[in-house]
Amino acid sequence: MKSAKPYIEEHKQRFINELIDLLKIPSISADSAYKKDVIATAEAVRDQLAKAGCDTVEICETPGYPIVYGERTIDPKLPTILVYGHYDVQPPDPLDLWHNPPFDPVIKKTELHPEGAIFARGSCDDKGQMYMHVKALEYMTATNQLPCNVKFMIEGEEEVGSESLGWFVSRNREKLANDVILISDTGMIANDVPSITTGLRGLSYVEVEVTGPNRDLHSGLYGGAVANPINVLTKMIASLHDENKHITIPGFYDDVEELSEEERSKMAEAPFNKEAYKKALDIDDVYGEAGYTTNERNSIRPTLDVNGIWGGYTGEGAKTVIPSKAYAKISMRLVPDQNWEKITQLFKTHFENSAPNGVRVTVKPHHGGQAYVTPIDSDGYRAAEKAYKTTFGKTPIPQRSGGSIPIVSLFEKELKSKTILMGFGLDSDAIHSPNEHFGIWNYLKGIETIPQFYHEFTAIKEGK
Ligand code: BES
Ligand code: MN
Ligand code: MN
Repeated sequence: MKSAKPYIEEHKQRFINELIDLLKIPSISADSAYKKDVIATAEAVRDQLAKAGCDTVEICETPGYPIVYGERTIDPKLPTILVYGHYDVQPPDPLDLWHNPPFDPVIKKTELHPEGAIFARGSCDDKGQMYMHVKALEYMTATNQLPCNVKFMIEGEEEVGSESLGWFVSRNREKLANDVILISDTGMIANDVPSITTGLRGLSYVEVEVTGPNRDLHSGLYGGAVANPINVLTKMIASLHDENKHITIPGFYDDVEELSEEERSKMAEAPFNKEAYKKALDIDDVYGEAGYTTNERNSIRPTLDVNGIWGGYTGEGAKTVIPSKAYAKISMRLVPDQNWEKITQLFKTHFENSAPNGVRVTVKPHHGGQAYVTPIDSDGYRAAEKAYKTTFGKTPIPQRSGGSIPIVSLFEKELKSKTILMGFGLDSDAIHSPNEHFGIWNYLKGIETIPQFYHEFTAIKEGK
């Protein structure tokens, strides 16, 4: 495979403009007001896949948002790569913290992206990273170098739990048959420290509701005499961690995979600068489970966090009231061997049973998924390693990520193939936050690296 660099250089401006066009469509899957835009994005992706060289493209209807499918088959005897990505994005709020409107992309230089970065919701997660694969396919077809078959499956519900994708995959096992799954929806350590993601955490997401009196009450007339659901909820939440920041739910750690000292010291070799980390977040110290480093806390250890909490009066001025209800959304990040459905049940039983007299507590499970780890001696990992070596000039470091792509473990179960997580974003790219961005260097590096992966993977498979 020839270096894609000259082709990328020649078409760079168009590659950027096309991505910007895609980023302008607000494909917010969580908010039904954007339904038309989500569907329009699916259509735009389909059209781009067709232009890039897929010989079949289709919009596959599901009970939820459609899945864009495309393929190019050059010879059924050759290996097949299945590319997965998502065209939906997170809601952009809080809007007032954006320096530009989230769906009106601008290019700006940053300290970590001296060549410029595209600021827009979805630029890194995942439209920009997904689109690298479309442009890599364009390069390989335009220059007649596609070495194997390729299938694309781009979904529109990743940010809301991928419910329809499970439905789709179980009904289309044959159509989706492949030798390796390739995903760019994670990050890497730094532009000069390439890494490949070898693990993702699982997830259990729940919503809790605490009900006290049957109506909001005057906090003078009733205060002190009835349970205040917000007081109760905050105390219940606080008791979910002990003084060592261990989670107190009985049975929570039962199945947690413990890493060997050797694995932990290998992990500790990855470059990490605590001072820079604190500075970037403007915090005076890090925080977390006793006995583990920051990099361990956010990758190989399970966690529990409140994502949102509400109830009572939050408007302007003061209102003296004891609310009838209080609510919170809570997520637990899980690690290998923890079963997300079991953890959800453990949480529900523990939380509901720990309610004091005077309130009723209910736990409503949302979505979840299993953690994922992938070996570094698979054909796919070896091919990726070689591809990075060619384009970055360095061997990539295997690294477990703290994020979740719940569908990845399901892919392995249903399609029986390994997933390679080739992410080109940086943690500082602010995915899910205001001012999300994606470095132009990273975007183009991805487009350059992906064809090398196709080449190396085919060579490994065909060489056998
Ligand atoms: N692309 C992210 C996951 C990610 C980002 C993994 C960076 C590793 C590094 C994905 O879109 C995402 O946001 N996943 C959600 C879970 C989903 C069920 C809403 C997450 O991790 O919160
Ligand atoms: Mn994503
Ligand atoms: Mn995301």
